[in-house]
Amino acid sequence: MPEQPTTPPTSPCTPAETTPPAGGAAPAPKAHEYAHERDWPGYYRAVAGKGARETLLKALELFERDAPSDLPRFAIDLGCGSGRDTFELLRRGWRVLAVDASELGLSLLKKEVPSEHADRLETMLSGYEDFTPRRATFINASYALPFCEPSRFDEVWARIAAAIPPGGRFAGQFFGERDDWAALPDRAHHTRPQVERLLAEFTIDRLQEVENREAGATGIVKNWHVFHVVAKKRPGGSS
Ligand SMILES: C[S@@+](CC[C@H](N)C(=O)[O-])C[C@H]1O[C@@H](n2cnc3c(N)ncnc32)[C@H](O)[C@@H]1O
Repeated sequence: MPEQPTTPPTSPCTPAETTPPAGGAAPAPKAHEYAHERDWPGYYRAVAGKGARETLLKALELFERDAPSDLPRFAIDLGCGSGRDTFELLRRGWRVLAVDASELGLSLLKKEVPSEHADRLETMLSGYEDFTPRRATFINASYALPFCEPSRFDEVWARIAAAIPPGGRFAGQFFGERDDWAALPDRAHHTRPQVERLLAEFTIDRLQEVENREAGATGIVKNWHVFHVVAKKRPGGSS
């Protein structure tokens, strides 16, 4: 029985994220239809102005509730896109390294960052596959890691997990094997036991497995199978 979300689960493309049709024109594709094609410029247009992801907000709430610690408020936003989560981290006083393989995503992010936060933001143009994170109290990867080259996923994840110190957190999504995109050769999908193994060095704050269906603009329905994760590195884990 899947755990019930405490807040409505977000997909990259909930109905709220549909681009409104202009003047009776055919509805514009939804964000997930762009993501299906890896059309990141279209995706950034479709999610423009959207707020931070629930998993990011949950992790920040938990950090705020934790006992005072010496861990620096430094986060990596991996697959940051045009910056919806990075902006929230900066707003809450974190220093952020925002990483994405899309130059357009990073340039949209830099254009929108409030000038009073700019000195706490660093950006890096990189694929996950070539990126070695430095030690970070928080690594956030919203709807990002399933787009990793599948044959490189395990090493990418090992570097992420190793970079988070005990008391630090990971937040983000993994996609399950019953998601329609699992059939695509360029996506990394995981079963629940595999997700639990990835998180072996973590205490689970949230692991919500959500399966639902969403119609795209053309009526084609996508089956989603998503794990929403917030997890805290245990003392004694690597790093
Ligand atoms: C679905 S978007 C998510 C963006 C943002 N985190 C959000 O929640 O809206 C996926 C992002 O991952 C980036 N991406 C895809 N494959 C990547 C890779 N192999 N390495 C780095 N970034 C990648 C894309 O450029 C895109 O910005």
